[in-house]
Amino acid sequence: MSETTATPPTGATPGQQPDARRGAAYDSAFLRACRHEPVPHTPVWFMRQAGRSLPEYLKVREGIPMLESCMRPELVKEITLQPVRRHKVDAAIFFSDIVVPLRAVGIDVDIKPGIGPVIADPIRSFADLERLRPLEPDDVPYITEAVGLLVDELGPTPLIGFAGAPYTLASYLIEGGPSKNHENTKAMMYGAPDLWAALLDRLAGITAAFLKVQIEAGASAIQLFDSWVGALAPDDYRRSVMPASTKVFDAVAGYGVPRIHFGVGTGELLGLMGQAGADVVGVDWRVPLNVAAERVGPGKGLQGNLDPAVLFAPTSAVETKAREVLHAAQAIGSSGHIFNLGHGVMPSMDPDALSRLVAFVHEASAR
Ligand code: CP3
Repeated sequence: MSETTATPPTGATPGQQPDARRGAAYDSAFLRACRHEPVPHTPVWFMRQAGRSLPEYLKVREGIPMLESCMRPELVKEITLQPVRRHKVDAAIFFSDIVVPLRAVGIDVDIKPGIGPVIADPIRSFADLERLRPLEPDDVPYITEAVGLLVDELGPTPLIGFAGAPYTLASYLIEGGPSKNHENTKAMMYGAPDLWAALLDRLAGITAAFLKVQIEAGASAIQLFDSWVGALAPDDYRRSVMPASTKVFDAVAGYGVPRIHFGVGTGELLGLMGQAGADVVGVDWRVPLNVAAERVGPGKGLQGNLDPAVLFAPTSAVETKAREVLHAAQAIGSSGHIFNLGHGVMPSMDPDALSRLVAFVHEASAR
């Protein structure tokens, strides 16, 4: 913790001292914005900033399968640092994947290039559920080690830990892989509500444990990715998903690290996703941030929300659209906005366009 800081982070359990290793990043623009404190400029980072858009990433990953690369701490450290060095983003996101904790408890899952996570035996019955045992920190020693290495190296740059939310993980486990319509997932949600609730509850436990490992090793914020929850209507979300996501947020509330909640196509769910327990709500590009601010309500930060495809347009168009995002964010006041894309960096994006965007956001938002 820095010498100038007198108060513990928002949400810290009384008497609980923040981990000293988290301290160096405490006054970073990113963590200050998460806490609605004044910032020198709007902080910016990109979902999927560590990955295939970077030639240096492709080089170090050569010949190493995705999930194996997540289990090599030195490699994880290098890949996580690459976009920080290159783009000068305000935060690092830990290089891993949402299915890593599932593999760690023994689920036969692989990530197929160009497809995504594929599950050998989908989960469709109470008997299948027994394969989802709780996650213990000893199951993921490589995560603890990689986070520790990173926090030492990052110094004042915050490290964002992350996990997949129960709904998004359930959709992969039930469908057996990526799915457009989530038909098996919804069939279970509507047709076997007890099995559905038991599955989401188990996943909430695994997700919470995975986040705790990252926070205890020194991550200074966390993001819960519910990428595919936009497939649901608000009533179904409230009834069938929100309790499990709330369980995850409650489980990590005592650490006092900011909790970000993100999904795609979630315009109608933004208010509920905030209520689920987030400090900051991620917004995709379909809802302007001033409208999102009304839906989320006061007291929460917003993250987003430039359309990733804009990065394929000329620099002047990128800057016009980025300025619109910064302007719309003023609806929540002078702090509380974290600039990001509305979804992840695409592999075919020009890394230089991303670096230029970071510099532009810093300059255009300088206070
Ligand atoms: O830079 C970062 O954001 C950190 C790393 C990160 C990865 N996956 C690395 C990765 C993060 C935060 C994730 C989260 C993740 N994984 C999500 C939620 C984020 C989102 O985009 O909505 C989801 C849905 C997954 C599941 C998953 N894993 C998908 C859909 C894919 C892409 C498949 C493909 O080939 O197009 C993966 C693989 C994956 N995870 C890659 C990376 C860098 C690409 C694999 C590779 O480089 O070989």
